[in-house]
Amino acid sequence: MDNEEFRKFGHELVDWIAEYRKNVGSLPVRPNVRPGEIKNRLPAAPPEQGEPFEKIFSDFQSIILPGMTHWQHPSFFAYFPANTSPPSILAEMLTAALGAQCMSWATSPAATELEERMMRWLSAMIGLPPSFTGVIQDTASTATLCSVLTAREARSRFTVNTRGYPSYTRFTAYCSKEAHSSVEKAIKIAGIGKEYLRKIEVDETFALRPEALERAILTDIKNGFTPLLAVAALGTTGSTAIDPLRAMGELCRKYKLWLHVDAAFAGSALVLPEMRAMLDGIELADTFVFNPHKWMFTNFDCSAYFVKDPSLLVKTFELLPEYLKTAEEGTVNNYRDWGLQLGRRFRALKLWFVLRSFGAEGIREKIRSHIALAQDLAGKIRTSADFELLAPVPLNTICFRYRPRGASDLATVNSLNEKLMAALNAGGRIFLTHTKLNDRFTLRLVIGQTDVRKEDVDRAWQLIQTQARELA
Ligand SMILES: Cc1ncc(COP(=O)(O)O)c(C=O)c1O
Repeated sequence: MDNEEFRKFGHELVDWIAEYRKNVGSLPVRPNVRPGEIKNRLPAAPPEQGEPFEKIFSDFQSIILPGMTHWQHPSFFAYFPANTSPPSILAEMLTAALGAQCMSWATSPAATELEERMMRWLSAMIGLPPSFTGVIQDTASTATLCSVLTAREARSRFTVNTRGYPSYTRFTAYCSKEAHSSVEKAIKIAGIGKEYLRKIEVDETFALRPEALERAILTDIKNGFTPLLAVAALGTTGSTAIDPLRAMGELCRKYKLWLHVDAAFAGSALVLPEMRAMLDGIELADTFVFNPHKWMFTNFDCSAYFVKDPSLLVKTFELLPEYLKTAEEGTVNNYRDWGLQLGRRFRALKLWFVLRSFGAEGIREKIRSHIALAQDLAGKIRTSADFELLAPVPLNTICFRYRPRGASDLATVNSLNEKLMAALNAGGRIFLTHTKLNDRFTLRLVIGQTDVRKEDVDRAWQLIQTQARELA
């Protein structure tokens, strides 16, 4: 493709994207395909000769698009959103055009310095203490792994990095039963051993019980373990429960544990002063992560990781082979040393475009409107005769189930809700997912799509009620 063809197709593609964004709501949210169906339509080997772009793009539309779940659909209420926005898409195009690999300051000074500035902007927007320094990671899973590894190194005075685990080391780690699986994954990968991750009881709001945490720490100390770290979830994946950060922080101080805060989804809500209560005690944390790629209109991937002491992070990850040395060593941030990967994408650009394009107030308005829509629907479910809420709704995630009058047997009600979800999702008009809370099959409906409107939520509620009546 020469540059003039690129110009032509580029214009056409932007037109296509604008149309897609306008019409995505009329597509089925989920594809109706069987496993293997898409792969079987793709040739087994790459073409020997280059193909025209028209043909490639036509195949994208006829083969790939029908196999996509439309995450930007206004009726996508599943998982947590991975929302995006026009400025983010445009910045991503520029990032691809620049094609820069931003591993160190010298490999693109502007990328490093923009990232430094964006992390400061974000930190101020969500009310983190100025003592935290930020770096962009690909995902919260990676950020949590970085935190676990840094905790391990800080505690072992960097000896695990150099000599591996000494035979006497028996670290333990703590999170609630509702914490995200990425915590367990990090504990596995860091060599702590997932058997030594203590999953602590939760209260009736699904938040960690600090007294149970203290009991677990004391038992472990008594049994010769070294409690290493705890993870507090601000917004669990199941129901956006908020762990008691201050109480956990005080216990971590008392027993010398590292404290990581996983606010992957709910962290975006901290732009709202009325949501800041959940951050009470943040000064006691060592690290904090939230994902602009979930609920801050910045397309996947972009995870904001904040650390209290960057020197511990850098010491955990840095290596300086001859071929990476630059003249500025020691005077600039070389982000290659702030995480797992060496090569880094220029993710700060899309954040810059988004934050400037929306403005902090624009972001606050959107997030506030999502929470208001969720609170409105939660109110309807609360007063409905045949549906019930199964968890508090602190933000924009509603956990509920259908329980027609007279239905009380757990297995029957669970199966009814499983069928309800399957029928709703098969219809293609909305998409929601589930979790289990207290053994109850729980429908989760998350309202965080960039342009979701009241009519989209009202339509979803109508569909859910109609479908439920049909099943009953
Ligand atoms: C609370 C929480 N932590 C971590 C993650 C993992 O996020 P990522 O996909 O960025 O690794 C999720 C994903 O939904 C989450 O809800």
